[in-house]
Amino acid sequence: LTAAVSAACAAVLIAAVPSAATGGATGLRNGIRSGVGAYEPDPYFPLAGNPGYDVQHYDLDLDFTPATHALVAQATITARAEDDLPRFTLDYSGPAIERIQVDGRPAAFRQDGQELTVVPHDPLARGREFTVRVDYRGTPGPLDDPALGVYGWINTDDGAVALNEPDGARTWYPVNDDIRDKATYTFRITVPEGVTALANGERQSERRAAGRTTATWAMNRPMSSYLAMVAIGKFRVDRGTVGGIPDITAVDPAGDGNLAALQTGTAAAVAFGERHFGRYPFGSVGGIVDRIGVDYALETQSRPVYDGRPDELTMVHEIAHQWYGDSVTPTTWRDIWLNEGFATYAEWLWQEEHGGPTAAETFDRLYATPAGDPFWELRTADPGRDDIFDYEAVYLRGAMFLQELRRTLGDPAFFELLHTWAERHRYGSVATCDLRQDAERIAGRDLGPLFHTWLYTETKPALTALAPH
Ligand code: ARG
Ligand code: ZN
Repeated sequence: LTAAVSAACAAVLIAAVPSAATGGATGLRNGIRSGVGAYEPDPYFPLAGNPGYDVQHYDLDLDFTPATHALVAQATITARAEDDLPRFTLDYSGPAIERIQVDGRPAAFRQDGQELTVVPHDPLARGREFTVRVDYRGTPGPLDDPALGVYGWINTDDGAVALNEPDGARTWYPVNDDIRDKATYTFRITVPEGVTALANGERQSERRAAGRTTATWAMNRPMSSYLAMVAIGKFRVDRGTVGGIPDITAVDPAGDGNLAALQTGTAAAVAFGERHFGRYPFGSVGGIVDRIGVDYALETQSRPVYDGRPDELTMVHEIAHQWYGDSVTPTTWRDIWLNEGFATYAEWLWQEEHGGPTAAETFDRLYATPAGDPFWELRTADPGRDDIFDYEAVYLRGAMFLQELRRTLGDPAFFELLHTWAERHRYGSVATCDLRQDAERIAGRDLGPLFHTWLYTETKPALTALAPH
């Protein structure tokens, strides 16, 4: 499911993609393929994502044994061909593949690094819906990137947790790992009795057979692959409700998690989000606390994962991502500040409302950082592949920009923008220029210089002089 990018912003995106990332593929000129539209690889993760088709649904059947970390899996992908496809590629670096079938017929395949090339028995005609079934088994493991840390399929003492951001989905299932290609998901997870399996969305059923339990989970709203999650292990599970939807939380009993605090903190963060950002975008919510050893939390869709007991602000941050990141998702990884700046700003708003510093005070404290300090040195809206999670440039300066936008627009227009942004682009893909368009529409004037100095320069920006009134 790939949302259309607005025409004006698409032009900006294409112009900004470096030519090295778009060369090579046949028929591509400046990244634009004549006739059937364009495929633009991500500027930071050009190998993730594949041209020629659009995934609708992933059906992941996972049989996992914590004692050995052995996985026996079948992935069935439903996609639509956007081109005539004699062959196509998927992203995959998981356990050994046993066989691949396309529309029920055996298909030839070849692996070259993370690219899995599939050659269907008959070429797929443009416009056709098709299914790819991949059977694989072995012991999956994570990626360990010098800049991005440990992510992907992470085995734990009593199970495993999958945390994909940014390009770790391929460690445990064959995927079109393109941040723009959202799809719905079904997870059917079989584990030994006494072990619990959770995933995104809502649990559909649970059945027991031969000492094993199979739980089926469904995410029925479009989801980018970096947000897909499973958590397997010993868990205590709590089921409450917030705003009429299930709040499903789980805590590793051997860790420091507090199930009641996770349930109420999550509910409070959802209520806070609905007030400031609008209607919560998914059919359930929750949280999972496990002992993972990665030192970050992840906003996995509808149900974030925390590595150890989260504080209130961390829950607010991950829940805010449900609107900003999960529902409204960047078109490329270059615009990751649209996730992290907004989620950090949500923390500042929460503090403002709960007896902490105001967002303006937090801004002022950070703004005191002298010009020339490394704090100002990366571009917030294009930090570079290795610095997508740079706390200062992406998280803090992203939030500072939003505070400066608030001061420039005034509170009513700014809070209208927070709602409009979430509502207008719900389940969609966006770029910074979409935000500029929405902000300018609400403000009724040009905000180009403000966006440019805060997001696209490497120097400390001057404050906007406000017209006296
Ligand atoms: N998006 C997460 C958060 O800010 C951080 C993920 C960090 N991921 C990583 N591979 N280091 O909530
Ligand atoms: Zn975040």
